[in-house]
Amino acid sequence: MKNILVTGGLGFIGSHTCVELIHSGFNPIVIDNLDNSEIWIKDRIEKIVDRSIVFYQGDCRDENLLRTIFKENSISGIIHFAAHKAVGESVQQPLKYYDNNIGGLVTVLKVAQENNCSNLVFSSSCTVYGTPDQLPVDESAQIKTAESPYGTTKIICEKIIQDLVRANKDYKSILLRYFNPIGAHESSLIGELPLGVPSNLVPYITQTAAGLRESLTVFGSDYQTKDGSCVRDFIHVTDLAKAHIKALDFLLQKNEGTCEAVNIGTGHGNTVLELISTFEEVSEQKLNYEIGARRSGDVEAVYADSKKSRSLLGWEAEISLEKSLLDAWNWQKTLAK
Ligand code: UD1
Repeated sequence: MKNILVTGGLGFIGSHTCVELIHSGFNPIVIDNLDNSEIWIKDRIEKIVDRSIVFYQGDCRDENLLRTIFKENSISGIIHFAAHKAVGESVQQPLKYYDNNIGGLVTVLKVAQENNCSNLVFSSSCTVYGTPDQLPVDESAQIKTAESPYGTTKIICEKIIQDLVRANKDYKSILLRYFNPIGAHESSLIGELPLGVPSNLVPYITQTAAGLRESLTVFGSDYQTKDGSCVRDFIHVTDLAKAHIKALDFLLQKNEGTCEAVNIGTGHGNTVLELISTFEEVSEQKLNYEIGARRSGDVEAVYADSKKSRSLLGWEAEISLEKSLLDAWNWQKTLAK
């Protein structure tokens, strides 16, 4: 069974990926500093897969801890999730983002290189496209100047990995550019755990429906879209997790160096208002919401061209928007209790 180092493995996407890794016959070795996750997520993962997982509590910038992990486990590949991701906070505290997101990646890469581990799946974002010139957006689209330090860290991290591949002929990496991950594991044992007031749409919706927030504000109704609200490509986190397994399989089978950026989305755009009405239908809840001003930095519309994920990785999203929202709601109900 191949060991895969999963940094940030107790986070929203990381935890779902650990489950899928085990289902696919890999052994996740998790490092997480619990900065935006909870230790009981580990127990929940173990409950879903019915076995224990190897866990190290600590930070990816801790070189010595990483060396210990590589010494104690033979690592075949790395999935690097560990990073801060709050767009607004990154504007207020840019150094926190540059230090953690870039410092963490560089440290992981350094220690991996010392240990001759050259397979990396990196957690990137469609934020690198900014406002795309064409929709759906494909991987050849121009990388735009980011609207936030968070976005800038994703662009810089992609660049660091590309430079490393250029310098080392054997290095192999897939940069997964996620669109908007939503939903939760269908067992309702793991899901998204936003710290404080959520800034992302779906946790805000489910918390409002659960009565934890009074009302949701729809940011903008005057965009050039079919109903005036923004368009996003919402993808179930389990589908997203499975894309990491396909990316790993691709890297482990490849005999020469490679670096490919791959969109991970459904290929369909939905407006914020469509998302709300679908949520109301599947949850049978009336959502309290109002239309407000645009949120600064928001892109009007973005959704994936998903041809490359199909042709290169043999992956495509399978789970519907309805099921994604129902899973998110069922997860929220376990939290609200
Ligand atoms: C953002 C980031 C993305 C990042 C993701 C991480 C940008 C441009 N996007 O995505 O890179 O990976 O967060 O989680 O940096 N909305 C409301 N009311 C709310 C909350 C959101 O109307 O209370 C709307 C937003 O205006 C937006 C849509 O819902 O149109 C989705 O917002 P959100 O969930 O925050 O994700 P993004 O901004 O698309």
